[in-house]
Amino acid sequence: MGIRFDPTSKTLTLTTRSSAYQMQIGPLGHLLHLYYGPLASDCFSYLYLPRDVGFSPNPAALREGRGWSLDTQPQEYSAALCGDYRLSSLEFTTEAGLRGADLRCLRHTISPGKYALPGLPCARGGADTWTLSVTLGDAATGVEVELLYGVYEAEDFITRCARIRNGGGVPMQLQKAASLCLDLPFGDWELLHFFGSHTMERQPERVPVAWAVQTVASRRGFSSHQQNPFVVLCAPDATEQIGDCYGVMPIWSGSHETSVERSQTGSVRLVSGIGSADFSWQLLPGETFQTPETLLCYSAEGLTGLSQSFHRFLRAHVARQGAYDRPRPVLLNSWEASYFDFDHDSILRLARDARDLGVELLVLDDGWFGDRDDDRRALGDWFANPRKLPGGLGPLIRDIRALGLDFGLWVEPEMLSEDSALYRAHPDWALTVPGREPTVGRDQLVLDLGREEVRDWLYETFFALLREHPISYIKWDANRQLSDLYSRALPPERQGETGHRYLLGLYALLERLCTEFPDVLFEGCAGGGGRFDAGMLPYFPQIWCSDNTDPVSRLAIQRGTSFGYPPVAMACHVSASPNHQTGRSSPLGTRGVVAMTGAFGYELDPAALSEAEREEVKRQITRYRELEPLLRCGDYYRLDPTAALPLAAWQFVSPDRRETLLSLVLTGAPPGPIPLYLRLRGLDPAASYRLIWMARYGCPDSAVDFPERWSGAALLHGGLVLPPMPGDYPSAQLLFRTDP
Ligand code: DGJ
Repeated sequence: MGIRFDPTSKTLTLTTRSSAYQMQIGPLGHLLHLYYGPLASDCFSYLYLPRDVGFSPNPAALREGRGWSLDTQPQEYSAALCGDYRLSSLEFTTEAGLRGADLRCLRHTISPGKYALPGLPCARGGADTWTLSVTLGDAATGVEVELLYGVYEAEDFITRCARIRNGGGVPMQLQKAASLCLDLPFGDWELLHFFGSHTMERQPERVPVAWAVQTVASRRGFSSHQQNPFVVLCAPDATEQIGDCYGVMPIWSGSHETSVERSQTGSVRLVSGIGSADFSWQLLPGETFQTPETLLCYSAEGLTGLSQSFHRFLRAHVARQGAYDRPRPVLLNSWEASYFDFDHDSILRLARDARDLGVELLVLDDGWFGDRDDDRRALGDWFANPRKLPGGLGPLIRDIRALGLDFGLWVEPEMLSEDSALYRAHPDWALTVPGREPTVGRDQLVLDLGREEVRDWLYETFFALLREHPISYIKWDANRQLSDLYSRALPPERQGETGHRYLLGLYALLERLCTEFPDVLFEGCAGGGGRFDAGMLPYFPQIWCSDNTDPVSRLAIQRGTSFGYPPVAMACHVSASPNHQTGRSSPLGTRGVVAMTGAFGYELDPAALSEAEREEVKRQITRYRELEPLLRCGDYYRLDPTAALPLAAWQFVSPDRRETLLSLVLTGAPPGPIPLYLRLRGLDPAASYRLIWMARYGCPDSAVDFPERWSGAALLHGGLVLPPMPGDYPSAQLLFRTDP
């Protein structure tokens, strides 16, 4: 069993296939965190023997010897104002003016299966999942904290969240409620996080954990392009292949906050959860507040091991059920082909051209509704634009389906334009502050999804759209973040709940629509990758990775995204050259190689391609179909070739290790005579691999004198030298297989 309580040492130990996580009920009942790391069956209390540390105060009952302090003991869920000066997990004020909490264990239970979180996305349980619940209480205020742990033995995952209950007699305002606190005894860690911007999301930065507080956060109401909520604590010597790494991933799409502090004793504390900056929540006596869930994974197998564990876990337990069991359609999206400028006939022509290339799904992007001719109006008016589509959506969808294509549609339900019938009818449905000019983003406002009538209206509107028309795919966009956090439906003391209620409302709406339309593929988008997080995956198994479709930029964006999220969750399209965002020109083949990392599609007008390019697109689609199961189910490796080469390379390996795809792109000219040298990963050293095909793009396709066969050991340890690839951004794909 994955959870054990030892009554003698008063330890609670969670074990997975290769990790152990240990807590102990301390001398006064505090829940202490003793250990998280490689599998071990010891009691780790010896790491925290009492010792007198100046200016670290003691609980009155343990004043003798001055050795025991909440400030130096490792906490499972820290709270302020009771002697622990490090990061707190919980902050509140009761109506009686009491703050802080001295949390002591009241009870715990161990049960088979996984706890549920009604109203919040969370990991689904599996055959070997166990739940631990530990309830802590503060006597002075009556506040109780139930800590919930889900233990996934085979997958090496632990989930955590907290339920705060006002067990006192007066109302209280919750100001901070983290999902987890993790104390590590030693401080030599590095923090790997993923920063960015619109069109350049999830760029990795690895910095030493400082003797200070470092915070990765978003107060934008969205998980954001700027700071992704996924973080890793890794040993300074951890590489892709080996070393201690802890991954922390909230299943949450709103404002978030993960802080790391190296304390005076050198220990490190990480506290992660919803963003506390603009948050408060009123709890009346007897009420509870449920925090979102956070995933925890320890890996001794470096960053690749950690990434692959997250990929498998998210695919199996978090992403929309069954979504990764079937092949993804190859789609063509109209956005970069025609932007707002189209009509029935031009979209039909686009669909016909796409069909002739082998595309399966035509997606009509922004501009099809209300009087939407630019991005300044009509959001909220979800009826067909009478000028562009005089017959409505019905005839267009019918004509497209008659071509043998499926139809997909872009929507942006969470937003509204001031210039819209919806805003004119319901100005109070927008998040705006009374007496203050609203902040507009892309000229639009945000609907107050915390309000039931707003959600109901959205549900009815999109239910009708999907019921009326055979739409098999929806691209759900959101092109601004939250700022004017004021809800016309909440009393003053609850205004701090507005941003959080927005997210709960969004999840509720998505849950209803996904349940009602199980066969519709919903793709998430927030101006590209502004909400690429584990909270979205239960509804959106694929997410538009970035509005930047330039293949060279995408190499960095997709690589950064892959640290936490499975490639199959990234929507990746081939677009026109020169690229519309960067102006850079690149070979069509290279754009295909880069897009064949995730859910593949096109974002261009086939009519603008030459005959030779159209033939190349047909070959690309055939290749993608051949590779699709491997891209969807395979293990993903970031290859880091020698730093002397401007070479990006990555590899997919089938779960049985019999097939592998190596993809690479040269982002510059190799300096001098350095050969294109790479070592592969993840193969069976004893197996014999044959090159099934090699395709090179953007460079001469000269003959290559490769051996007939390679052993796995040769590819892993000896490596592979590729022929020179002169040209601008040339690329290659090599597919190897063992004999059947
Ligand atoms: C932002 C998206 O990321 C784009 O792909 C496109 O759908 C536009 N919005 C449409 O307004």
